[in-house]
Amino acid sequence: MTSIARHEQPDLRELLAFYAESGAYDALVEEPIDRFAEAAVSAQSAKAPARARSFDGQASAPAEQARTSMLDRAAPPARPATPAAVPDEAQAALAREIASRAGTLEELRAHMAAFDGCNLKFTAKNLVFSDGNPTADVMLVGEAPGRDEDLEGLPFVGRSGQLLDRMLAAIGLDRNSAYIANVIPWRPPGNRTPTPHETEICRPFIERQIELANPKVLVTLGGPSAKLLLDTTDGILRLRGNWRAHQMKSGTVVPAMPTLHPAYLLRNPAHKKLAWRDFLEIKAKLGELG
Ligand code: URA
Repeated sequence: MTSIARHEQPDLRELLAFYAESGAYDALVEEPIDRFAEAAVSAQSAKAPARARSFDGQASAPAEQARTSMLDRAAPPARPATPAAVPDEAQAALAREIASRAGTLEELRAHMAAFDGCNLKFTAKNLVFSDGNPTADVMLVGEAPGRDEDLEGLPFVGRSGQLLDRMLAAIGLDRNSAYIANVIPWRPPGNRTPTPHETEICRPFIERQIELANPKVLVTLGGPSAKLLLDTTDGILRLRGNWRAHQMKSGTVVPAMPTLHPAYLLRNPAHKKLAWRDFLEIKAKLGELG
């Protein structure tokens, strides 16, 4: 019998550290799955027919019992059936339709909570709709919720949210005087980048949310938000600091300032001075617009 030398065995601590670093904090099922027991079940059932099957091909009672009890231990608890993926354009069309039907932000939130067309919903714990004051003059839009936001159901409550609060405070704003949302309202598993398809499905929701909040100034946080809402393919370092326009479906145009994402600033603190300049621009514009 061959055995794996100890130094060749995967180090579970390293694997867990790798998962944690990649942001994969959440298990997809509540209970751990014992893959060794599953392997034993497969091995057993592969051997079983010769010894334990009756003439009509059914497993004999003891073999079936052994198999069932092992499966009981190995199987994850039953979960509600959910679509594994959302494959087609029909869901984007449905999102556009239900977003346009929302007459208020509360209706929009309710429509989004009832919408099953984005597969991100099925791995997220909460819909992350918004925080802050929906009647504020300024609306900020980030990319997608992370783990903390998913748990609380509120945008920007983790480390990057704390930095965002300090950036707002630097120009005299807080969550009573700013409205905050994300392009994607459900946390992508493991904080992966949302796919273009997921982004297209969620686009009508954030566009309608901006239209209903109707801010005087829009601030996009990070590249993905700027690209989507300012209809550009330019990189954020080129875009930031220059006023652009966000065109609503109604035709209304709102001045928009693309700036760096707080999570990026946490990784690149030397660039905080650039974001500071952008926030001074935002302050001046709000002053100008009264
Ligand atoms: N990053 C985002 O883009 N949005 C959040 O809500 C949190 C982190």
